[in-house]
Amino acid sequence: AAVEIVLDLEHDRGPIDGRLFGSFVEHMGRCVYTGIYEPGHPTADHEGFRGDVAELIDELGITVIRYPGGNFVSGYRWEDGIGPRDLRPHRLDPAWRSIETNQVGTDEFLRWAARRRVEPMLAVNLGTRGIQAAADLVEYCNVPGGTRWSDLRRSNGSADPYGVKLWCLGNEMDGPWQIGHKTAAEYGALAAQAGQAMKLVDPGIELVACGSSHHRMPTFGYWESASLEIAWDVVDYVSMHAYYEELDGDRRSFLASGFEMSEFIDDVAATIDAVAARKHSRTRPRISFDEWNVWYQARFPGTENLEIDTSGPRIEDVYGTLDAVVVGDLLITLLNHADRVAVACLAQLVNVIAPIMTEPNGNAWRQAIFAPFAAVAGSARGVGLVARIRTPEIETNQYGDVPAVAAAATYDAPGRTSSIFVTNRAERPVDAVISMRGEITWTTIQSTSVIIADDKGPLDAAAARHVRQRLPGTRLEGSTITLTLPAESWSAVIVSAA
Ligand code: AHR
Repeated sequence: AAVEIVLDLEHDRGPIDGRLFGSFVEHMGRCVYTGIYEPGHPTADHEGFRGDVAELIDELGITVIRYPGGNFVSGYRWEDGIGPRDLRPHRLDPAWRSIETNQVGTDEFLRWAARRRVEPMLAVNLGTRGIQAAADLVEYCNVPGGTRWSDLRRSNGSADPYGVKLWCLGNEMDGPWQIGHKTAAEYGALAAQAGQAMKLVDPGIELVACGSSHHRMPTFGYWESASLEIAWDVVDYVSMHAYYEELDGDRRSFLASGFEMSEFIDDVAATIDAVAARKHSRTRPRISFDEWNVWYQARFPGTENLEIDTSGPRIEDVYGTLDAVVVGDLLITLLNHADRVAVACLAQLVNVIAPIMTEPNGNAWRQAIFAPFAAVAGSARGVGLVARIRTPEIETNQYGDVPAVAAAATYDAPGRTSSIFVTNRAERPVDAVISMRGEITWTTIQSTSVIIADDKGPLDAAAARHVRQRLPGTRLEGSTITLTLPAESWSAVIVSAA
């Protein structure tokens, strides 16, 4: 029997937050240096940022960029990265065993983000530093003038305050690998104090507290509830991070990564609700899923084995169609949790586990995972619809039985369009029927596309450009769409009304 997907225009999850289509730029490997920034590159702008990379970022549809780390931020002194470039120190970055030249810092990044029209999201160092350095950075960025730090920003070339709204209170502070790693109680106390001071400097900012670094952390759940208990009054978002990879050839479990991400979000939301209930609080911090992607961690050496270098490559995964299908499926999960997840960042943006790659002094190119991200960021508008699905299940080693088909849809009332995204995790093709309920007569299939996990392995620039094809045989009759989902595939269908 065909899989049935029922969408009802009257049954939505509320508006899709545009910030779901964010990304992440860390001072790591070649993400900044020879990634977004390469003075001397033929396309470089007046501040040394690559124009070819900027064009691809626009095409990808990125809305928010988190910066400057990641593990890097837990040893970072932000003052090193401001002022005349020739006076900036070269520092050892112990997190990635690199020499940080500080040629890009807060001003360069924020001015570049403004030129790209993306919202910046800055992380403060709660590893080796604390309350004062965090509050000073907010002052530097957001106070108009007349104070030590704001006047320094003005003299460094930015007369107007940047108005950075989103701030991360450290990074992965639950992780034993993190510089300045803390217990939940220690972190909760520091986050509460730093957050209070930062909000006293600028009451308009929003703060993201570190959640667990991944679902399998031994302190998962406890970390969130214990730290939130203490920092509740200053926290607007709780962060989540998750990376997925195919382990030991277990392709089925890898294809079910979107299912795992869904369970993870439900668990974090339940933990937030439990703390809210205990506190008799009507507010609920939302979720900032500020690092997610496919990352083949098993392929790369441990950091401790790396030679210290300057902008040497770090974790430059090259992706294939299977990875693109999984990334598409993870996006479906994010859309289906848009009522709880406000911000999400594909990690990272350029060269480091990234949708965009560059050759130094050469071309920039799109990886296979670029395609599903651009498709969703470019068309998911309006409200998220609740997709009710009748689907068989497939058995996986890691997660037990999971739905063979996953789907998410959005409805844009002013544009009279609906975008529907569907993953078939099964090893054979599946016929699907999508029933659209509501007071609209759909007239046109605007576009269809499909990515099929065809086992070609990592794709180069030329092959990665063509991972999205048209999905033939999709029909719209009345309010019903019929289509055949190829085995292990991710599809997008956009319909419109006259
Ligand atoms: O994105 C790479 C690294 O993954 C980040 O620095 C860290 O936050 C996470 O563990």
